[in-house]
Amino acid sequence: MKFFIDTASLDEINAAAELGVLDGVTTNPSLIAKIVKDPANFTYADFKAHIARICEIVDGPVSAEVTTLKSEEMIAQGEELAAIHKNVVVKCPLTVEGLKAIRHFSQNGIKTNATLVFSPTQALLAAKAGADFVSPFVGRLDDVSTSGMELVRQIVTIYDNYGYLTEVIVASVRNPLHVVESAMAGADIATLPYSVIKQLANHPLTDKGLEKFMEDAAVMKG
Ligand code: E4P
Repeated sequence: MKFFIDTASLDEINAAAELGVLDGVTTNPSLIAKIVKDPANFTYADFKAHIARICEIVDGPVSAEVTTLKSEEMIAQGEELAAIHKNVVVKCPLTVEGLKAIRHFSQNGIKTNATLVFSPTQALLAAKAGADFVSPFVGRLDDVSTSGMELVRQIVTIYDNYGYLTEVIVASVRNPLHVVESAMAGADIATLPYSVIKQLANHPLTDKGLEKFMEDAAVMKG
């Protein structure tokens, strides 16, 4: 199973990369907005430069999202994004217009991540259009009393049934249990906020056991 980090923060990306468990990065416009200190002076060129910096840190897929609604505009923007670095994956919303753009990119050797996916039919369309990745948003579904993990299980089953190569990125992850259930479901990737990556390593019994070992090891210091 691969772990991506779901952030645009270079500090968080560097910290996760140091752990040696990082396979890629996902960003979206909201995550980019969080790291912008001076929005009035943040240009599209600055955005592209930021994506380039991320690509220098992590040698794996880096999703950069289009910010337009029409397929022609998504295609123009996505081509610019893909030109930043070979690892850039163009993230397109799973809309009718997004599907047209995904089809175009898949026919032209540009990798795509179909985002804002909330149903198995959307995931099926993403695979048929040739998306390299599909991102079901589990946390946002849980937020409206619908099981996000059930959607992941449905997508994995459907893709297995037909041999689709589209990789499932479990997105909108809120806690370690989402990660465990994603792994049990056979999802290819989970994209995690840095806070969740840290939570994966923590256990109170590890802390307690370590405290005792350190205490007992102290007898050797004399
Ligand atoms: C990743 O690709 C998604 O954009 C992200 O996981 C959404 O997460 P959120 O629901 O916490 O905003």
